[in-house]
Amino acid sequence: MIYDQPAGTFSIQSLPILDLVEQHHLPLYVYDSQQMQTQFLRLSAAFNPVEHMLINYACKANSNLAVLKIFQALGAGLDTVSINEVKMGLYVGFLPAQIIFTPSGVSFAELEEAIGLGVKINVDSIETLEYIGHKYPDLPLCIRINPHIMAGGNRNISVGHIDSKFGISVLQMPLVERIVKTLNIKIVGVHMHTGSDILDIDLFIRASEILFDVAQKFIDQLEYIDFGSGFKVQYKPNDYQTDIEDLGNRLSKLFNEFCFKNNKKLTLVFEPGKFLVSQSGYFFVRTNYVKQTISTVFACVDSGFNHLIRPMFYDAFHEIVNITAPKGNPKIYNIVGYICETDTFAWNRKIPEIWIGDVLCFKNAGAYCFSMASHYNARCLPAEVLIHEGKSRIVRHRETFEDLLRNQTTDFDTLENIKKQ
Ligand code: LLP
Repeated sequence: MIYDQPAGTFSIQSLPILDLVEQHHLPLYVYDSQQMQTQFLRLSAAFNPVEHMLINYACKANSNLAVLKIFQALGAGLDTVSINEVKMGLYVGFLPAQIIFTPSGVSFAELEEAIGLGVKINVDSIETLEYIGHKYPDLPLCIRINPHIMAGGNRNISVGHIDSKFGISVLQMPLVERIVKTLNIKIVGVHMHTGSDILDIDLFIRASEILFDVAQKFIDQLEYIDFGSGFKVQYKPNDYQTDIEDLGNRLSKLFNEFCFKNNKKLTLVFEPGKFLVSQSGYFFVRTNYVKQTISTVFACVDSGFNHLIRPMFYDAFHEIVNITAPKGNPKIYNIVGYICETDTFAWNRKIPEIWIGDVLCFKNAGAYCFSMASHYNARCLPAEVLIHEGKSRIVRHRETFEDLLRNQTTDFDTLENIKKQ
């Protein structure tokens, strides 16, 4: 989003924001395809020294079909965690071989449906490995290891530590090797994902070294090493962000040495969500009114954690911009939603003075925002708009009241025996 300071106006790919708002109404998610492409190319370039590299887009971050289509067009694969994500990938045209299914704790029935669809399977437990190994002896598999590293921005999104439910403990490799050998399972990939918002490249490298050790055990049939994701993006000016170029330099070197030592042409795989889409998204809301209490000035907006839950769920910081009146004198606000329990988007935030009707913008709304939205308080989901090549198009219609009723049964006759006491 570009700010034209003299004019006091904002635009995305030269489209004035206030025009978009007028056309599509609020609240509204807007995605910038150019920004997605920039991030994709930046990550590819950082690993240029590696001959074979694959980026699987982690579509849990944003599963709008248009977003999936953009990454497919850019040459990405797809990282999926549910059978419906798998089906969405196939629906937009990914080939089964371009999709990896990395579920956690799903039923064997769901896994077998994915196997039936022909996608790559990443195994998260020894129990699953044995089950699939017995039933599908010829199926090539990837195994997800848990390296026992505490990495990630907060506890909820740290998943590679010893108490985490994810992956097969790196300490259990002797058992894994025994099962693989006995059942003659073909292990073609090894994988880890230790968390989101990882602050430290050294930690990433340490976990990677553990993954190389595991890879060595299955080297004969190995085709790829999947380092997961967790790259940290900036949520505010001067925020720490993963230095992708530095990581690219260091990990490419280790990866190439590993391939050379083993005389193998392996593929290096990543599966980012946030890095690819977080900064491409904006969430626009309107101010219903400003309310002053004894201690606080609240700006009350026409949305809530039903649309963007990250601040309430993770204490996440989203920069907020007053689009309508960016030149006003800054005041201190709590920005709150309309949900009937504590529903705060931002605490003690300095923002140019907000008036009734002002449009506010939440930045970094491309990842884990719409995809984590709900219908709480019987609220409808907002519309999503994609800006591509200087044009805006609706990529998801705003929900209506009828959408809230859909799938609910209304044969109230069956309840007629309920009588007032
Ligand atoms: N691969 C696996 C196996 C994952 O579980 C995840 C994210 C990713 C890749 C992508 O990670 P990313 O590049 O987006 O950090 N809702 C949280 C983030 C949860 C991440 C869950 N797994 C948030 O809003 O911060």
